[in-house]
Amino acid sequence: MHDSILRLQSCAVDVVIKTHPFTEILYWGPHLAHFSPQDALSLARPVANGRLDVDSPITLMAEPGHGLFGAPGIEGHRQGLDGSPVFRTVDVSLQGQALTIVADDREAGLRLTSEITLDTTGVLVVRHGLTNLKAQPWQVERLAVTLPVAERAREVMAFHGRWVREFQPHRLTLEHDSFVLENRRGRTSHEHFPALITGTPAFSEMRGDVWGVHLGWSGNHRLRAEVKTDGRRYLQAEALWLPGEMAIDQGETLWTPRLYASYSPQGLNGMSQQFHRYLRDNVIRFPENKPRPVHLNTWEGIYFNHDPAYIMRMADEAAALGVERFIIDDGWFKGRNDDRAALGDWYLDRQKYPDGLMPVIDHVKNLGMEFGIWIEPEMINPDSDLYRAHPDWVLALPGYPQATGRHQLVLNLNIPQAFDYVLERMSWLLGEHPVDYVKWDMNRELVQPGHEGRAAADAQTRQFYRLLDTLGQRFPHIEFESCSSGGGRIDYEVLTRCHRFWASDNNDALERNTIQRGMSYFFPPEVMGAHIGHHKCHATFRQHDIAFRGLTALFGHMGLELDPLSVDEAEREGYRHYAALYKRWREVIHHGTQWRIDMPDATTLAQGIVSDDGGQGLFIVSQLQMPDYTLMMPLRLAGLEAGARYRITLLDHPNIRLTGEGGHTMRKLPAWMEVPQVVSGEWLMEAGLALPVLDPESAILIGVERV
Ligand code: DGJ
Repeated sequence: MHDSILRLQSCAVDVVIKTHPFTEILYWGPHLAHFSPQDALSLARPVANGRLDVDSPITLMAEPGHGLFGAPGIEGHRQGLDGSPVFRTVDVSLQGQALTIVADDREAGLRLTSEITLDTTGVLVVRHGLTNLKAQPWQVERLAVTLPVAERAREVMAFHGRWVREFQPHRLTLEHDSFVLENRRGRTSHEHFPALITGTPAFSEMRGDVWGVHLGWSGNHRLRAEVKTDGRRYLQAEALWLPGEMAIDQGETLWTPRLYASYSPQGLNGMSQQFHRYLRDNVIRFPENKPRPVHLNTWEGIYFNHDPAYIMRMADEAAALGVERFIIDDGWFKGRNDDRAALGDWYLDRQKYPDGLMPVIDHVKNLGMEFGIWIEPEMINPDSDLYRAHPDWVLALPGYPQATGRHQLVLNLNIPQAFDYVLERMSWLLGEHPVDYVKWDMNRELVQPGHEGRAAADAQTRQFYRLLDTLGQRFPHIEFESCSSGGGRIDYEVLTRCHRFWASDNNDALERNTIQRGMSYFFPPEVMGAHIGHHKCHATFRQHDIAFRGLTALFGHMGLELDPLSVDEAEREGYRHYAALYKRWREVIHHGTQWRIDMPDATTLAQGIVSDDGGQGLFIVSQLQMPDYTLMMPLRLAGLEAGARYRITLLDHPNIRLTGEGGHTMRKLPAWMEVPQVVSGEWLMEAGLALPVLDPESAILIGVERV
């Protein structure tokens, strides 16, 4: 038995795996300083009365053939046959912390290849490949990655959401059966972000054991947290296929999406920090390693009203405000005057741009900014020349009318001519113009997605990847943003091909606080597009002053989403100020360690980012509603060096007013705001820092510097 016990280890996390005769994950938890393989015997289970006479392991593929009875990891058949495979290990190879296990079922004619890698950051990456060894196709209904978690992981956290309200966390206690999160919308979705977190009761940002998983896949998916009747628990994640959608021919291998998993004994922060570090080390690559430039995106400034002379004036003003990248959004192509027509006709609108795009691009570049442009390549409007020429290029099932969404249909990228057409048009756009950045949008869900009569949501997702891959290879200097009506396509698989996410179409600073915090569980700030919008928010009509909007956009990749010519000088001064503040701190924000802070009053959100050497930290406190108490609770900082001393500075405080100065909530400031103080890191983390009483919908920014 001992020979078949393997351990993957990192400095924070270990995974212990039994490989023979069946593969089973025995342990996923803190790094073990004193492990020896025979220790695993202590977990050999008894056999309970009243059920099977044999032990039933939760194997790597969670086959029902072992007497699992819970949700299986594999379901499928060969015209009714070979429907209950059980895999026996035939080969194991370990290279560093990367384990590959090959297992066969000769009866069913299937081979399973499992890749399990524990990254130095502690993130576990798992995927399975299923190969058909027999002549007839094997119809795959389900193929999931299953990870057992400790029995003490009794609470589950997941995210719900919708357009303009992404990444809203919710929690439940799971004692029996399962919690299932299913996405059938054809894109990663606003509604069902593919992640599950489970942990010890009342796990928080700073405390508790936490196991979190994210499925890197931009299509339909299913995630499950399961409690077996014997009390064992597991997490499961998979691409979700529609009836008849997936079959593998002889010799063909179907790979699951990768499951990314992080265990932390220090609450949600530990989990997120591992994920962030993993992405920084392995996934996120910015051309030339450039700092994240301040954006100005034209959408909420001018919508479809494109006048090159006016856009150039916007660019002048943007440059004067400190903007470094200027992006023309929707509306530049032939016939695109509203959202009813022209998707697919990727030719310049000569009525709007009689001299072409180059005068605008040259102007932007002469101002020292990069140039970006919007496109939505996967879509087609019924009112377009493309549709009139090729009505059969729509992703649909014949015989059924296809519902439009935002007046548009989906272009079937599985049709080679359709794929080549879009590739050619995008290559024209990106090859004939000096474009630095593409905002790649995708604004509708897939309904009855079909190709040649068969369900084709999975295939469409893969073609989207192929299109983006091909363009990424052709234009390696160009950065891509994944946008899908805001945050409808945010996941690790698309992040291997893009450089930024548009987190939400909602630029309301109040809403952005929860959206961005939700996103931060899995994504670091440098890939999170966060824009200052107009003072009257276009999505909610709520009004916020520039300070709240500016500070809220600081902890991401900052930009402006407005027409800077349409506002007064005081507003513009605000944009200038926050763009400069962002530039001053972006090195720390985009490379440091992020801490979400547990606050006793749920009306307050606080977070900080500390540079890796512990020398500098930036903390923001956002007051979302009227505080529950008359005094704010002290802010217990995190991530500082306990033995070091820090100078505390109020970096941004424009709205703090005392009674008599127009304020209502406070007569006297906390002492440190009047007399500069130097305090030990330990004290700041254990005892904390008194906060001023904040008005609802306002924020303050605090800097700490090691002295
Ligand atoms: C939806 C995006 O989320 C917006 O930011 C904008 O690009 C519009 N589409 C343009 O149609």
